[in-house]
Amino acid sequence: MKKVLLLVLALSLVLGVATVLRAGIDSPGVKDTPHDVRIITGEEGLEPCAMCHSPHSGTGEYPLWNRDQGPQTYTLYESVSYDMYSGNQPASPSSLCLVCHNGVFSSLVNYPGPGSHSGEEYDYEMNPTFWAMLGTDLTNEHPISFTYNPYMDNTQDNNGFPDVVPCTTGTRVRWWIPSAGGPSLAYPLYGNDNGGHQFECSTCHAVHDTVRYNGKQLVGGKSVGTQVYFLRNSNAVSEMCADCHRNRYDGSW
Ligand code: HEC
Ligand code: HEC
Ligand code: HEC
Ligand code: HEC
Repeated sequence: MKKVLLLVLALSLVLGVATVLRAGIDSPGVKDTPHDVRIITGEEGLEPCAMCHSPHSGTGEYPLWNRDQGPQTYTLYESVSYDMYSGNQPASPSSLCLVCHNGVFSSLVNYPGPGSHSGEEYDYEMNPTFWAMLGTDLTNEHPISFTYNPYMDNTQDNNGFPDVVPCTTGTRVRWWIPSAGGPSLAYPLYGNDNGGHQFECSTCHAVHDTVRYNGKQLVGGKSVGTQVYFLRNSNAVSEMCADCHRNRYDGSW
């Protein structure tokens, strides 16, 4: 028993050092973060997962999605140098983030509890004064919902975007954008079935908060640090931006 404990201690020391050097996987979870419905409403008795997922009878979208609102039309980011521009409206899972972050009223499809029970506590409309309110005009947001293809950029703007890395489990393949000095499976790409290369909000963000980095702090479930919650990696000294736009910081990656 003692040996096991010592091993655990040694391992956690090694992991501890690694976390200081580079963002790493922390003990993850949505509990007590700004995405916990009990923080959003201040009501302790609510079910955190139900705010976004339902085990049955949700919208039918990946992953067992449970929030809905009427159809929305977004104004997209465009520019002369945005080579991967698709003209597509936000796809899943970006559209799932936006169901709250667009500031339009949304409610649950299947409220927790028996039958047609409903619960207004889970209905939500983001306050327009919140800095997390992106609205439906996405021209001032980083582009999303396009197919990631580094070769479309290279010869012209030469951002130095990295090649994708496959992760194969059984018969499934998932594609990732590697981080420059950290894990190769850093930024996931989306899309149906095998071979999806869609770049979405969740390529940069972890909605369940799985990464530890300096400057991220919570007080009473609200983030107050120098960095925001839910990033896939620390963005201190713009590290995250430089992971993809490798030639835009100092070209040393
Ligand atoms: C604020 C909304 C939100 C809450 C709350 C939330 N999720 Fe999610 N979840 C998402 C979104 C959006 C995705 C898809 C994007 C992605 O890949 O991260 C997702 C993906 C998932 C996935 C599939 C991908 C993966 O990470 O394995 C699982 C499983 C999951 N959630 C489980 C849960 C459970 C269990 C809870 C409660 C403890 C929970 N989620 C709470 C929004 C939420
Ligand atoms: C159920 C509604 C809901 C969904 C779905 C949702 N969010 Fe949020 N999100 C919130 C709320 C509420 C806050 C806190 C707003 C505030 O305090 O200003 C928040 C805050 C954030 C923040 C700021 C964190 C901080 O440091 O304060 C980020 C980043 C974020 N969300 C990203 C996402 C992404 C990306 C997705 C989809 C993968 C997503 N959210 C889906 C409701 C949601
Ligand atoms: C290319 C990476 C990237 C993509 C794609 C991305 N974000 Fe972010 N997001 C960031 C970074 C980095 C920050 C932190 C900015 C800061 O510290 O001010 C951030 C901050 C936020 C915040 C906090 C408010 C703010 O303005 O700082 C919210 C909310 C948010 N993102 C939601 C989203 C949603 C919803 C999407 C998809 C529509 C999305 N993000 C797409 C990188 C990204
Ligand atoms: C996970 C990879 C990734 C991350 C992280 C990332 N970007 Fe991007 N960014 C892209 C891709 C891919 C494009 C599309 C480029 C194209 O088609 O020309 C893009 C587009 C842009 C554009 C628009 C370029 C144009 O030609 O109009 C700007 C500006 C930009 N990113 C800045 C940032 C900043 C600032 C950060 C950090 C907050 C960041 N990006 C983080 C991959 C990323």
